Amino acid sequence: MPKFKFIDLFAGIGGFHIAMHDLGGECVFASEINKYAIKTYFDNFGISSSNDITKVPEQAIPKHDVLCAGFPCQAFSKAGKQNGFEDTRGTLFFDILRILKYHKPKYIILENVRNLVSHDKGLTWKVIHKNLVDLGYLIPHKPIIISPHQIGVPQLRDRVFIPGILKEFSNQKELKIVVPESKRNITQANNALNSSSNGEFAISNYEEYVLSAWDEFLQGLENKTIGFPIWANEFTKNDNISDLPSWKQVFILKNRKLYKDNQKHIDGWLKKHNYLKDFVRTHTKFEWQAGTSLKSVWDGIIQFRPSGIRVKRPTEFPALVAMVHIPIIGWEKRRITPREAANLQKFPQNFKINPNPQQAYKQFGNSVNVDVVKFIAKQLFSYG
Ligand SMILES: C[S@@+](CC[C@H](N)C(=O)[O-])C[C@H]1O[C@@H](n2cnc3c(N)ncnc32)[C@H](O)[C@@H]1O
Repeated sequence: MPKFKFIDLFAGIGGFHIAMHDLGGECVFASEINKYAIKTYFDNFGISSSNDITKVPEQAIPKHDVLCAGFPCQAFSKAGKQNGFEDTRGTLFFDILRILKYHKPKYIILENVRNLVSHDKGLTWKVIHKNLVDLGYLIPHKPIIISPHQIGVPQLRDRVFIPGILKEFSNQKELKIVVPESKRNITQANNALNSSSNGEFAISNYEEYVLSAWDEFLQGLENKTIGFPIWANEFTKNDNISDLPSWKQVFILKNRKLYKDNQKHIDGWLKKHNYLKDFVRTHTKFEWQAGTSLKSVWDGIIQFRPSGIRVKRPTEFPALVAMVHIPIIGWEKRRITPREAANLQKFPQNFKINPNPQQAYKQFGNSVNVDVVKFIAKQLFSYG
């Protein structure tokens, strides 16, 4: 595609910006309200994105060929019976629509969380689709759901993309975006690791103790294919559980059977670790999601989650989300660094990262994956 102009709404730290720039785009307007994101954006692109989009008149926005918007997953509770423009008033999607109505850019690329598809029993998607089509855009019939691991980037992160082209520019009747099958067996999380963390991101002594204990637990089991969450507090209990929801009863019964099948090992393990009395409660739960492919906890990618300690194969990292559950690289006994979070989101090596790691994790957790945007945009731009 020849040189073009784009606008970056809900710009965050510029995942769309980098992708569009790499494809020949020039940013003519950006909008963001978070002061830390605004600073990171300015430090990297020299553009002030400090605009609350709800307060910017559409006439004040420069002409552009592509509108990009990774809009926040704000509820669309206002979607009403008519599914029309008026129904979206008060939502941030309304602001996207009024800009589109005025400027009619040739292309749009919207991004949102996967739940958008099922939100309000599918009505939200219908409202979005209908409004964009009414404005003259060719939009895929179904939302595009894609994760970076499908294009060889080692992160599992399902997101919804809504690309569109103004009908008058395309001689096609349908907009089809091809999404490849998972490439999960050939990518390795290792590809994203390049930091020496000089101890700053090392797990704590407590975390190492707890993980070592769970590793011992695992080593002594007869059968390591555990397809359910392990709740250590349930092992030795025998109370009536018939009042509990059925899914919970199933898990508890499986835990009690696991205990019976491995009683000698588990009794010794519980005794050695003071019946897990020193464990934070959520750490008495263990989610082994690596089947028989890994020999040890330390071979996996680990997360301390509210539902328990989760261990997965090192083929891909779990989705980065804001600041919580930062993935731990088992074999290095440390969390990923902000630079590695940037790698997982495909931000370039020269990207200036916020020096506060908590802010940096949050920013990359909120951002869009640069390579996925490029992947969608290249197909979209071939339509006209
Ligand atoms: C999901 S994030 C998008 C991140 C971005 N795509 C990136 O690559 O970093 C949504 C962003 O919208 C911003 N936002 C929310 N309300 C806004 C508004 N009224 N005007 C401008 N930005 C807004 C939030 O601060 C947040 O950074």
